[in-house]
Amino acid sequence: MTDYQSKQYKKVYDIFISKWYDIGLKIGLTPAGENILRTSVFKSLSPYIKKSDRILDLCCGTGTLTILLTRLLYKDCKIIGVDLSSGQIAKAQKKNRYPNLTFAIMDANDLKFSKDYFDHAVISAALHEMDKTQRLNVLSEIHRVIKKEGIFLIFEHHEPSKILLRILYNFYLGFIENITSHSSEMQRSILKELKKTNFRILKQTPIKNFLSFFQIILSKK
Ligand SMILES: C[S@@+](CC[C@H](N)C(=O)[O-])C[C@H]1O[C@@H](n2cnc3c(N)ncnc32)[C@H](O)[C@@H]1O
Repeated sequence: MTDYQSKQYKKVYDIFISKWYDIGLKIGLTPAGENILRTSVFKSLSPYIKKSDRILDLCCGTGTLTILLTRLLYKDCKIIGVDLSSGQIAKAQKKNRYPNLTFAIMDANDLKFSKDYFDHAVISAALHEMDKTQRLNVLSEIHRVIKKEGIFLIFEHHEPSKILLRILYNFYLGFIENITSHSSEMQRSILKELKKTNFRILKQTPIKNFLSFFQIILSKK
């Protein structure tokens, strides 16, 4: 993404998407569906979390997942959500009632944290919006800021293998996402990119109780 494209992208989130993001997801996924997806991230991550761990939610948007993780994980954990868009972060800050949770405006390509600052990191529904160069850059930044043996969880789109589900997926999500984002290309390349940036892949799991339209990839530094 050029500097100009990145500024335009941020503007769209700041001015328009941030205002409608939460309600849009509730319409697109239904409140129950969104809860299934967010909770599945918690369920995959929580076995690895110890008291007092520091966790990064990168590209946290309006903070819905960040807040859910803060509510359900140990109270002693320190959670930080960062996003490029000031509009998204303003929404997240408004919803925050937790002393151990902070939000900040930050570019995932240039994280203002020292090496090994976090125990673990998650990124939800953001890598598909990045091109290959940016993804590799962001993955390297995540690798830099988490500790050795730290978990990195990716929540992303997933095109199911079963033909009927695949048709439904493309009707519901895939078709539009492939016009507006890098979804297919990201899905094809993400495991290779994780290896290239020195992550060890632990598990790739389609979320079955949401028709396998989404997946969780767990990897380790
Ligand atoms: C589809 S939203 C996902 C938000 C949130 N993670 C969620 O699960 O609802 C993608 C988010 O990625 C953020 N984003 C995209 N590129 C970014 C970058 N380079 N640095 C930080 N945030 C970025 C956008 O501002 C947006 O809030």
